[in-house]
Amino acid sequence: MTFKEMILQGIPDQLPSKKSRDDKYSHAPKRKDILTTTEKKLAIANALRYFPASWHTILIDEFLEELKLYGRIYMYRFMPDYEMYARPIHEYPSVSKQAAAIMLMIQNNLDPAVAQHPQELITYGGNGAVFQNWAQYLITMKYLAQITDEQTLHMYSGHPMGIFPSSIEAPRVVVTNGMMIPNYSKPEDWERYNAMGVTQYGQMTAGSYMYIGPQGIVHGTTITVMNAFRKKLGAGVSPNGKIFLTAGLGGMSGAQPKAGNIAGCITVCAEVNSAAAKKRYAQGWVDQLTENIDELIVMVKNAVGNKAVVSIAYIGNVIDVWERFDTENITVDLGSDQTSLHNPWAGGYYPVGLSFEASNEMMANHPEQFKTAVQVSLRRHAEVINKHTAKGTYFFDYGNAFLLEASRAGGAVMSENKIDFRYPSYVQDILGPMCFDYGFGPFRWVCTSGTDADLKLTDQIAATVLESMLVNAPASIAQQLQDNITWIKEAEKNKLVVGSKARILYADAEGRAKIASAFNDAIAKGDITAPIVIGRDHHDVSGTDSPYRETSNIYDGSKFTADMSIHNVIGDSFRGATWVSIHNGGGVGWGEVSNGGFGLVLDGTAASKTKLESMLFYDVNNGIARRAWARNSGSLEAIEREMKRSPNLTVTMPNLVDENLLQHIQ
Ligand SMILES: NC(=O)c1ccc[n+]([C@@H]2O[C@H](COP(=O)([O-])OP(=O)(O)OC[C@H]3O[C@@H](n4cnc5c(N)ncnc54)[C@H](O)[C@@H]3O)[C@@H](O)[C@H]2O)c1
Repeated sequence: MTFKEMILQGIPDQLPSKKSRDDKYSHAPKRKDILTTTEKKLAIANALRYFPASWHTILIDEFLEELKLYGRIYMYRFMPDYEMYARPIHEYPSVSKQAAAIMLMIQNNLDPAVAQHPQELITYGGNGAVFQNWAQYLITMKYLAQITDEQTLHMYSGHPMGIFPSSIEAPRVVVTNGMMIPNYSKPEDWERYNAMGVTQYGQMTAGSYMYIGPQGIVHGTTITVMNAFRKKLGAGVSPNGKIFLTAGLGGMSGAQPKAGNIAGCITVCAEVNSAAAKKRYAQGWVDQLTENIDELIVMVKNAVGNKAVVSIAYIGNVIDVWERFDTENITVDLGSDQTSLHNPWAGGYYPVGLSFEASNEMMANHPEQFKTAVQVSLRRHAEVINKHTAKGTYFFDYGNAFLLEASRAGGAVMSENKIDFRYPSYVQDILGPMCFDYGFGPFRWVCTSGTDADLKLTDQIAATVLESMLVNAPASIAQQLQDNITWIKEAEKNKLVVGSKARILYADAEGRAKIASAFNDAIAKGDITAPIVIGRDHHDVSGTDSPYRETSNIYDGSKFTADMSIHNVIGDSFRGATWVSIHNGGGVGWGEVSNGGFGLVLDGTAASKTKLESMLFYDVNNGIARRAWARNSGSLEAIEREMKRSPNLTVTMPNLVDENLLQHIQ
C-alpha cells in the first residue's frame, strides 16, 4: 500500500500483526497503577470501542497487558508502518489544503527526531500528548484526508469526535485537551481519567500540533538568557566566561545549551536520562558531554579560564553539580532549572541519590516512597541554590513549577512575607515586562513545501519587515526589534531546524501581521512555493492564563482567573484561525494553567489576508488589553498606541490610584 492509501484506510480492514515497542526510542515512564478493577474494565471497554467486535477477544488481553506494563493503553499494534515525519504538503491525500497542512503538523509532532516518546505519542514535557493511542491517530488522519473546507473536525483530548458541517469561514479543526470540571482537576485525576482513556494532557504545542522541535524554545530561551545576563552584569557587558547552570536536556529544556551558546556564555546542563543527553549531543545541540563529575569540574575551570563560549552536558543529577560547584567555589552567574516539575511524581523530576533506573522502578512500584524522595530532594535542591545566591548567583524560576513544588515540599524558597517566592520567575523579571506587556511573543511559521529555499526567503522577508519597523519604533520596543533582527539574520547559520522547515521570532501585533501579510503576498506571486502555516507557542501574551508563569506579572489579583485564554480561543476561532485549541494544563501542570493556541494556513489568497489581519490583531491585543487593565505600564503604553493606530479598537482603560490614598486602610 502507498502512504496515501494507508492514511485513507484509517483503522485497517485486517487486524495488523502484533507489534512491540522499539528499544531504540525513549519511552514514557510506566504510569502508576491507579485504577480499580471496575475502572480497568472501563478502560479496556473504552479502548475496544475503536475496533470491530470480532477483534475484541484478541485485543482484550493485549490491552490489559499494556495497562499492566505501562499504566496506559497505547495500542502499539496499530502503529503505522510508514515513516513518521512532516512530508511536503502535496504528499498528503486531501480534499482540503488546510487539512493537509494540519496532517503535516501532526506528523511533525510525532516524528521520532522531534518527539520525546514517539511510540507513546508524547511530543515533549514527559506527558505532552498528541493522542492517547494509535487508533485516535489513524482515525484523525483519515478524517483530515476526507474533510472539506465546509466541515470542522472536533477533537476531544486526542479523540476525533467527528466531522461536523460548518462553513468556509470556520476553523477546520477545534481541539480541546484535558478540559475538566474544576473540582476534578488534580494530578490524581489526570492519572485516573487518562488511564481510563477519556482525557489527555496536551501540554501546549503537543496536543495542538504546533510543536517545531527545540528551535521553538531556543529563541525564547536565548532572549531570556541574554536579558538575564544584562540584568546581572549590566547592559553591554559580555557574558563570555560566565556560567549559566541549569538542568534538563529534554523536549524544551534541550534548547538551553544552544541558547547559551548564542548568548555567548558557558552553559552547564545536567540531565539524568543518558538517552536524552546523548540525543541532544548527537543533534549538535550541546557541545560536550561527560558522565564524570571530576571531569566536568576540569572542563568548566578550563572554559572559565579561556573565557570560552561552550555548552557542557553532565549526565547525572543537577543537585550533585550545584553542590560540587559550591565546594569547589565555582561562581555560577546565572542559575535556573528545567526539570519537568509540572509533573513531579510521574517522571518529571528525578531525586538526588537515586539512579535513573531506580527512580523509574520506585515511581511505578512504590509511588508514595518516590513522592517522599522527590520532596527530600527538592528541599536539598533549594538549600544549595540558596548557598549560591548568597554568593551572588542570579537564580530565576524557568516556568517549570520549581519554586511552587519546592515550596510545597517545605524547601526554603519563600520570601520573608511568606506569600511570594524568594526568587522571581523569568516572566516576572524578564519576559513579562520586556516582551508580553508590549505584545512581543513567539510567532512561528512552517513552510509546507518542506524546502530550504522557502525557509530562507521567509527569513529574509521577516528581517526586512522588522528592519522597516525599527526605523520609527519607540525606545521601549527598539531593543526587542533589534534582538529579533539579529536572531533572524543568524537563524540559518545556527542550524535550528529539527523536523519541519520552521522558524520562530518574537514580534508584536503589528510585526506579526506585517510578516504574515508579506508571506501571503510572496505565496500569491509564486516566490514562496507552497502554503505557510503560521501559529505560535501558547507561552505568549494572550493565549495563556498561568499564575506562576505567563501571567505571573499580573498584580491585580486576576492572575488566578482564566477569562483571557477562553476569550482568546473563542475570538481567534471566528476571526479566521484554521485550527484552534484550548488546554487545561501545559507548562506548569494539570489544573494549574489554561492555555490555547491556533494555526492559520496562508495560501496567498485575499481571504487569507483578511483572516490573518483580523485574527492576529485580536490574538495579541486581547492580552495587552487585559494586562493594561491590570495596570501594567508597558501594556498601558502599547494599547494606547494600538488604539491610535486602529480607530476600530476601544479598550476600557484603568484610572490609576495614588498608593498613598490606600495607606490608612488597615
Ligand atoms: N519557561 C519556558 O519557556 C519553558 C520552556 C521550556 C520548558 N519549560 C518547562 O520546563 C520543564 C521541562 O520541559 P521539557 O519539555 O524539557 O521536559 P522534559 O521532561 O522533556 O525534560 C526535562 C528533563 O529533565 C530531566 N531531569 C529531571 N530531573 C532531573 C534532575 N534532578 N537532574 C537532572 N535532570 C533531570 C529529565 O530526565 C528530562 O529529560 C517543563 O516543566 C516545561 O513546562 C518552560
